Amino acid sequence: MNVGCVKEIKKLESRVGLTPSAVREYVNAGHRVLIETNAGAMSGFPDADYQKAGAVILEKAEQVWSQADMIVKVKEPLAPEYKFFRDGLILYTYLHLAANEELTKELLKTKVKGVAYETIVTEDGGLPCLKPMSEVAGRLAIIEGAKRLEKPFGGSGILLSGVPGVDRGNVVIVGAGVVGENALKMAVGLEANVIVLDINLKKLTYLDELYGNRITTLYSTADNIEKSLEKADLVVSGVLLPGAMAPKLIKRAYYKTMRPGSVIVDVAIDQGGSTEVSKATYHDDPVFVVDGINHYCVANMPGAVPRTSTIALNNATIRYGLAIANMGIETACKAHKAIKAGVNTYDGKCTCKGVADAFGLPFVELA
Ligand SMILES: NC(=O)c1ccc[n+]([C@@H]2O[C@H](COP(=O)([O-])OP(=O)(O)OC[C@H]3O[C@@H](n4cnc5c(N)ncnc54)[C@H](O)[C@@H]3O)[C@@H](O)[C@H]2O)c1
Repeated sequence: MNVGCVKEIKKLESRVGLTPSAVREYVNAGHRVLIETNAGAMSGFPDADYQKAGAVILEKAEQVWSQADMIVKVKEPLAPEYKFFRDGLILYTYLHLAANEELTKELLKTKVKGVAYETIVTEDGGLPCLKPMSEVAGRLAIIEGAKRLEKPFGGSGILLSGVPGVDRGNVVIVGAGVVGENALKMAVGLEANVIVLDINLKKLTYLDELYGNRITTLYSTADNIEKSLEKADLVVSGVLLPGAMAPKLIKRAYYKTMRPGSVIVDVAIDQGGSTEVSKATYHDDPVFVVDGINHYCVANMPGAVPRTSTIALNNATIRYGLAIANMGIETACKAHKAIKAGVNTYDGKCTCKGVADAFGLPFVELA
């Protein structure tokens, strides 16, 4: 199969669909890999590394799109890329179609076989291609939050670790999923005081056993959130209700008791956010202030650390990508239920129930 990878064109997106190391895996399996020149430059992978791994470098994106049987990307294609869609092309990337009717219709019209990273589901219900990005975002949330607490960044001037003789900072983490657990790991590493809230008691039990008296776990109720926020210097939200908008658990009324310059990192912004005032921001202007509280609401946090994110993403996507390239998509779907779940569009039909329901399209289950 000809496997292609183009440079991402979304604003400030620096990740790339294939690392040189992933290219080597495809080439070793007998595939031809086509890379647009400079596709990996922002992630620290020069063309020479791809050539060494056996890829062919092409000057223009259109050459890659037209010669490839499968395109491996990071973000959903944007309008200028729709012209490259064609019958039978396999598109393997994050698609987020339920929020994008225009792209869904283009993929259906042109009969592209669209495989979405975010709907690849393992038998235990895990989302293997989403997990690494939540790991990155959770860890980054504490780094970004700690930075925004600094006075020159408009923060309250708190060092989360404190120093001998001075109080530690208080971190409140709402949602103890992948984002929450990774934020927790970093906050504990910085020796901050940490409260974690979730409605999943199993997760709270696990964290309680793991960290003992180094953290406080609380069941997530309005009461507990309000009380926890009273003294919070940094709040991280990683709440998720699968397939729904994030609940607005962090009320503006709670800000009254918080110290001005405190920070809320709303990682759940990609599902609408967890505060009443959250709105998506970009890396070039990531923070806005409401009632003296700094809100960091970047919807693609992993894009800030593209090298780590690209490698982490490839670690997760290579297995399924190789299976598709080796077997062809139809056989790969039969061999791996996870891949079948990832197929959102096939031969002009919508094969993902969530997407079909979102736009009133007929849902056709892949055979
Ligand atoms: N902004 C970014 O760049 C970025 C990057 C990665 C992930 N995300 C987003 O972060 C969110 C969390 O992702 P995840 O992988 O950690 O999800 P996850 O499913 O692993 O965790 C979500 C957690 O929220 C908990 N939860 C649900 N309702 C709650 C409530 N009322 N109070 C407290 N906790 C509650 C769940 O029990 C679960 O533990 C998602 O919306 C995801 O898309 C954003």
